[in-house]
Amino acid sequence: MRRKLIIDCDTGSDDAVAIMLAALHPKLELVGVTTVNGNVPVENCTDNSLRVLDFIGRGDIPVYEGLNRPIARQDFPIPRAIKKSTGIHSKELAIPAPTSKKRQKAAVEYLIETYRAATEEIALVPVGPLSNIAACIAVDPKFVERVPEIVIMGGAHHHGNVTPSAEFNVWADPDASASVFAAGWKRLVCVPLDATHEALVSLEDTAKMTAMGTPAGIASARFIEQRIRGYDANQPMKEKGAAPVHDAVCVAYLVDNSIITTDFRHVAVETVGTLTVGRTVVDTNFRGEHAPNCHFAFHADRRKFVDMLLTTFAKKPA
Ligand code: BDR
Ligand code: CA
Repeated sequence: MRRKLIIDCDTGSDDAVAIMLAALHPKLELVGVTTVNGNVPVENCTDNSLRVLDFIGRGDIPVYEGLNRPIARQDFPIPRAIKKSTGIHSKELAIPAPTSKKRQKAAVEYLIETYRAATEEIALVPVGPLSNIAACIAVDPKFVERVPEIVIMGGAHHHGNVTPSAEFNVWADPDASASVFAAGWKRLVCVPLDATHEALVSLEDTAKMTAMGTPAGIASARFIEQRIRGYDANQPMKEKGAAPVHDAVCVAYLVDNSIITTDFRHVAVETVGTLTVGRTVVDTNFRGEHAPNCHFAFHADRRKFVDMLLTTFAKKPA
């Protein structure tokens, strides 16, 4: 049986690769995509999600638009690090405009109704700011217990990418993030920068994707090469000519849990620190008062991850 999932995203280049992996992997069934303000404004996230699904022949997968701003803070402060364009994400992905349309229902309504009606397990995979998910929790008191597993791309212990101490998705809507991490999920898995920075995709890998000649191979190579150029210029990784494809690691984990290595720890989100707002505070040494609530990934298996992308995207569309 294929594993069902819903992706909540801010597409964005790596979100697009996550969508393609979820839509095309034979062991997964992508039930729906919801969008949220993040890497680019939410209407562009929606357009980009439709674009990538159409491009790979999966325009049948529904896309619902979500919140266009954080739930509490009314601004969307852009610090110096991302004010100058890094070129890592595009308002419009470099593939043709979509012919499919977004669904009329709001993302939060769709998520609440889908989980309420579900007779089979559907994993929830948020890979953008957590505004939609916090809204679901606020609106439906039973939402949390209906989700069998939530796999979040966000946070960091040894890294920061938007400030010295915070990762973008968690930082972008810290109040939402704090409520989501504290919600008491059946199973919460967090895939932070610590793991995604170990699962780099290189120019050698993207050359193989291009050579496949499939829509997914061509699109993923194009998006990942754009990321590599952006990282090399603005935020170099240990290895030049390679970049993380954060969001896709969450999807890969659903197929093969051994792609990440986790520690079960308590994780909370800082909402008020002048220097630390949006930081995921991981109780690595059991110093706090709270029991573990999160399987936090400190490592990822690069080879397994890249091989999964290559095998999945090589398959010719039916
Ligand atoms: C996260 O932020 C976005 O830029 C990426 O799509 C990813 O979800 C990494 O910090
Ligand atoms: Ca994202």
